[in-house]
Amino acid sequence: RPTATLLLGSVVLAACGQKTPQTTLNPASESTRAIYNLSELLFWLGVVVFLIVQTWLIVSIIKYRQKDSSQVPTQIHGNTKVEIAWTIVPAIIAIVIFVFTFDTIRKIEFMPDEAAGNTLNVKVIGHQWWWEFQYPDIKDANGKPLVTANELWIPSGSYIDVKMTSVDVIHDFWIPGLAGKRDVMPNRESGLWFKADDVADGAPGVFWGQCAEYCGGQHAYMKMRVVVASPADFQKWSTEQSQVAVNTTLPESFTKNCIGCHVVRGTNAAGITGPDLTHFGGRMTIAAGTVDNTREHLYAWLDDPDAVKRGNIMTTAIKADTLTEAEINELVDYLESLNPGTSVKGQQ
Ligand code: CUA
Repeated sequence: RPTATLLLGSVVLAACGQKTPQTTLNPASESTRAIYNLSELLFWLGVVVFLIVQTWLIVSIIKYRQKDSSQVPTQIHGNTKVEIAWTIVPAIIAIVIFVFTFDTIRKIEFMPDEAAGNTLNVKVIGHQWWWEFQYPDIKDANGKPLVTANELWIPSGSYIDVKMTSVDVIHDFWIPGLAGKRDVMPNRESGLWFKADDVADGAPGVFWGQCAEYCGGQHAYMKMRVVVASPADFQKWSTEQSQVAVNTTLPESFTKNCIGCHVVRGTNAAGITGPDLTHFGGRMTIAAGTVDNTREHLYAWLDDPDAVKRGNIMTTAIKADTLTEAEINELVDYLESLNPGTSVKGQQ
């Protein structure tokens, strides 16, 4: 694999290979491994064809170049053997590619039978420009599906059955190391499945995901994080997440400015336009992966959301100078307190 990466001759690709969690070159699920293996086959087929054609070309140029300008070279009109060869050989290559591609599509399209009884259902809802995740099988304190935003936790070793839809325009769900891409469409349900590899040494693995269909001004900042946890860690996380907020005393500035759009379970904040903030303090990022979830970034976001993520929907309510410094600090304190404990904040 390092040789293949080097041959690609691209510093960028080489850097992506091992260092960042958003890469197709380091697959960590059965389906992305199948795609990677197919692309590796295509790459090496391409290398072989390229080398043969270029060698042939260079040899021909040197061997058959015009050496004596007074003579007209021998004129050739057609060669049945060569023509049959250059028809049949590409046809065989195309058939080989077809067979392997068909097999890969079959592998990643249908969830295997052994998934029965070991499946976690996840519902993905695309918004401009953030991701909502629902767990239909895991109920919160009110008997409703557990909901989170921009950070999807899954247990390693389980089959994840993803159903997706959008509330506005077409988005596309893509976690390069684990799954995708698949369009996320309004008024329609699409889906895919994946199974993440076991996590090494039991520590949660973090993968980056990205909306892969242009969906408006902040398409590039419609990111997500996927945390692959051991089954025990996932159990702990989901139990915590299905509780009401750890701090249900809403500050006045929250009641005044936030409850129309955001949910904090266990309080009267029940707006559904924006992300569920119940356990916001434990999340890795704010504004769908735009910046890390730190006090400084959160302050900047509440001070002027448009400056952090241009055109986001929160800017219809909160503009620069809408909130006073004291209100922003109160909100930062409150939001950062909403951390139930199990978190990979600060990683990646
Ligand atoms: Cu959502 Cu691009």
